Amino acid sequence: MLVHLKELLKHAADHEYTLGAFNVENLETTLGVVRAAVAKRSPIILQVSETSIRYAGLKAITNIVQTISSVEAGVIPIALHLDHGKTFRSVAECIRVGFSSIMMDASDMPFMENVLLTKQAVDFAHGREVLVQGELGVVRGLEEVSPEERAKLMTKPEEAEEYVRKTGVDALAVAVGNVHGIIKMRKGNPDLDLGRLEAIHNAIPAIPLVLHGASGLPQSEIFEGMKRGIRIINIDTEIRLSFTNALREMLMKNPTVFDPRELLSPSIQAIQRVVEAKLEMFGSAGKATLINKV
Ligand code: G3H
Ligand code: 13P
Ligand code: ZN
Repeated sequence: MLVHLKELLKHAADHEYTLGAFNVENLETTLGVVRAAVAKRSPIILQVSETSIRYAGLKAITNIVQTISSVEAGVIPIALHLDHGKTFRSVAECIRVGFSSIMMDASDMPFMENVLLTKQAVDFAHGREVLVQGELGVVRGLEEVSPEERAKLMTKPEEAEEYVRKTGVDALAVAVGNVHGIIKMRKGNPDLDLGRLEAIHNAIPAIPLVLHGASGLPQSEIFEGMKRGIRIINIDTEIRLSFTNALREMLMKNPTVFDPRELLSPSIQAIQRVVEAKLEMFGSAGKATLINKV
């Protein structure tokens, strides 16, 4: 069932686990992720990006998430979130159709412009009881910047408190060496700057920190992040890879199959396996029991 993110964040903080936030873009990705949550009795966040909204349509993807969350998930709690909202307009539209949280990502802007744009989103969202995630520092793809440039784009711990105070955000995405996208799956994730993460957490201990670009990160780094305030972990690339690899294999092995349901079923199952492993890693497996006594 769909619930408000504030309930999940409170529960995760009280019971010391981290929420997985999984990107979905269609029926099949939603089914794969939700079935994993059900199998593992885990609260989760389903998130959609602006690209996915352009692809599927906001009403369609929202209805898919709402319907699957009630029909397939029953009492397993699921929150719906906008990932990387870049404009006030898309933030407002997602709030209008019932998202309980949005990300206002003005991380590309200079500090004060980031503050102003994010504050504008916060004022609008909080007036409608919706939570806001901001981003300070910039998370890029591995291929987009050199290691030196990445270091310069990292979140500055000394700015974190001012950013949170001036914007009023409820959660903060941090850039501590984490990178988005597919290239790191071949070349390897850079190490997280754990000292920086700890300093950010110490500066704003009450604010849940969000780790973007977590596909491919080893369990050891995830655990170190969780010890230092990471309360939400974003996974997209591994979902896309498992979907596409399973589909490719299915098509290669079965050149005469033409029924989309037959072709796509292994992809749904592959996503479920990937997400189940993440839910175990993040410590959220089994935690839905505590919320709903299921
Ligand atoms: O961090 C970005 C997410 O993976 C969304 O990517 O805009 O291609 O859907 P997308
Ligand atoms: P990955 O590209 O590592 O899956 O990151 C996903 C993400 O951060 C979505 O916002
Ligand atoms: Zn991201």
